[in-house]
Amino acid sequence: MKRSSVIFWSFLVVILALVLRKIKIGYDAMQYVRGCAHEVSFEGIMKDPIFIELIKNFEFESPTMIIFLNQYALDMTFNWLCNIKDMPNAHKNLLVITLDNVSDKQISTTWPNLKRYNMAIPCLKDRFQSGGGRYQLFYLLRANIAKAIDRFQSGGGRYQLFYLLRANIAKAIVKLGKPFWMVQQDTFWLDNLLDLPLNNTESDIIFDRVGEIPLIAGGYYYVRPTQKSLKFFEKLSEDLEVSYKQDSTYMTSLCSRDDLAKCGFVPYSILSNWAWLDNPSVKSPMIIQLDCETQLEKKLDKMKSLGFYFLEEDEKSCNVSAVKEAKSHVLNRTMLPAVSEKSYSHTQLIIYTWIIQKLHQHYITEFILNKIVYPYAYYFMFTI
Ligand SMILES: *[C@@H]1O[C@H](CO)[C@@H](O)[C@H](O)[C@H]1NC(C)=O
Ligand SMILES: *[C@@H]1O[C@H](CO)[C@@H](O)[C@H](O)[C@H]1NC(C)=O
Ligand SMILES: *[C@@H]1O[C@H](CO)[C@@H](O)[C@H](O)[C@H]1NC(C)=O
Ligand SMILES: *[C@@H]1O[C@H](CO)[C@@H](O)[C@H](O)[C@H]1NC(C)=O
Repeated sequence: MKRSSVIFWSFLVVILALVLRKIKIGYDAMQYVRGCAHEVSFEGIMKDPIFIELIKNFEFESPTMIIFLNQYALDMTFNWLCNIKDMPNAHKNLLVITLDNVSDKQISTTWPNLKRYNMAIPCLKDRFQSGGGRYQLFYLLRANIAKAIDRFQSGGGRYQLFYLLRANIAKAIVKLGKPFWMVQQDTFWLDNLLDLPLNNTESDIIFDRVGEIPLIAGGYYYVRPTQKSLKFFEKLSEDLEVSYKQDSTYMTSLCSRDDLAKCGFVPYSILSNWAWLDNPSVKSPMIIQLDCETQLEKKLDKMKSLGFYFLEEDEKSCNVSAVKEAKSHVLNRTMLPAVSEKSYSHTQLIIYTWIIQKLHQHYITEFILNKIVYPYAYYFMFTI
């Protein structure tokens, strides 16, 4: 055999092995979801009067922000809570959903004034692994919560209307829902997300993005309680329960459909990510998602090395001067240089982003992305 064909066949075998590995991982993940889906079901969420009461008390005027955590994300969460502590209403408009009793206890003792909701889901109390069953289950849970809030708000609007005006204008029910932000704590805030003007009022859901491309990052999204956003999350939840999907790419795919929600984007220059740190542009973003690492401990270490660590030695109280310093560094674009050695997962993300960016430039490849690649993104990203 010629040398070049040996190389070709070896290459093919390696790719095949990597894809088969993904199929196995996907199969295992779905087994996990099948075993645990009942713990995160929409019906279960809607049955809990404590949850219903919480949502009822959401404001109409300013959206509530929702984060999730289990005990392994406590450090990250404390760090972020310190980051946003002095921003008006940031803590007041936050709902912390804890997934185990340990994190619920820790949050309640350190930050007693936060709104909390403890779900204590046994299937979600352990460490998450990217692409694993816990993540899939978590995505499903997130979709169900979003669905529950949406659904409830149709009902909730009805409730409000009943008490306030006792009028029965059915149309108003939908309009009177409550908006919310799904947010993530592995981020740095230069400014308050609640101050972000959301101009694109026709959009049912407004997403963050991976770069200057219409690919959803999925850490942050804003939801208007409309029938269409309800439909969107119903579809998302339905599909996440039965098939192995990455929610951000799958949501991108759902956004490309005409029959679900109308999706909008927050400009990447405002709601940015790690890539900005590699190459600070002219303007500082409002928020930087530090999602360059898939492992949580590494992520916090990296944040430390970049000057985004805001805790005192007790790993709970806030180092106020550290927050100030980080803000002025981001504002002046004088951050510590990112550790020159990029991790394997960081490098891969850069490569995938670059490829996707190229594919979005033509409508045919974009169509293929939306219809084939994004719904099955896990299998295409076979090296991660
Ligand atoms: C968590 O706390 C609740 C209420 O105190 C209790 O019913 C439940 O058994 C606890 N779960 C675990 C896993 O300890
Ligand atoms: C809203 O409009 C202003 C002014 O045109 C713009 O600077 C800002 O980026 C827009 N915000 C969003 C979220 O699109
Ligand atoms: C708090 O932050 C300041 C400024 O960044 C830093 O010099 C100091 O070491 C930090 N304190 C602790 C306990 O880490
Ligand atoms: C950022 O710029 C302001 C105003 O020019 C200055 O007061 C501040 O010291 C700078 N901060 C850093 C960390 O360079």
